[in-house]
Amino acid sequence: MFHWLKSPKTRCGCTAARWPGTTSQVVRDYQETTPVTIDRHKTLQILVNLLENAKHACAESGREGKQIAVRTRNTGQGRVELLVIDNGIGIPPENLGRIFQQAFSTRKGGHGFGLHSSILAAQDMGASLTARSEGPGKGATFLLAIPILPGEKDANVPMISPIDRLANH
Ligand SMILES: Nc1ncnc2c1ncn2[C@@H]1O[C@H](COP(=O)(O)OP(=O)(O)OP(=O)(O)O)[C@@H](O)[C@H]1O
Ligand SMILES: [Mg+2]
Repeated sequence: MFHWLKSPKTRCGCTAARWPGTTSQVVRDYQETTPVTIDRHKTLQILVNLLENAKHACAESGREGKQIAVRTRNTGQGRVELLVIDNGIGIPPENLGRIFQQAFSTRKGGHGFGLHSSILAAQDMGASLTARSEGPGKGATFLLAIPILPGEKDANVPMISPIDRLANH
């Protein structure tokens, strides 16, 4: 899964690079995962929204060592996961239950569409999108969990792009 996220250099490795135009460092930690069939466009839409939010959260924190990590991994529980983790401003507990609502935004210039459209896209794919934060100043983690289809083994096997899989059917 997420074969198309990887460049040859990052495949199965962990790399870090500065996000151009920002002071955030992006860490890419892509573990091999079981192939799953997912909608590439929707997944990218979700990823872009999560990265945009993480970028803003880091910028607003004003902290040193701003970092955004993107991880893929097998859970061993019948699903694969994509995580976007930042060490930005964090989310107060009272907002955690509201951030996926349409038009909920705390950001100047924000519209509150990104997470709402992302959770709808995840649900369309039979996936889930959840958020965690220890609170203000403690960063945030967003988790896209995609179920492995029945009959597929939840084990480390070579990655196949979802698009390749669709093309082979
Ligand atoms: N990584 C994050 N760290 C802290 N707060 C976040 C993070 N991601 C989302 N939020 C909170 O959730 C709210 C909703 O996010 P969402 O992406 O839906 O809207 P937005 O970013 O404010 O505006 P836009 O419509 O441009 O995406 C944000 O305004 C912010 O309060
Ligand atoms: Mg947003």
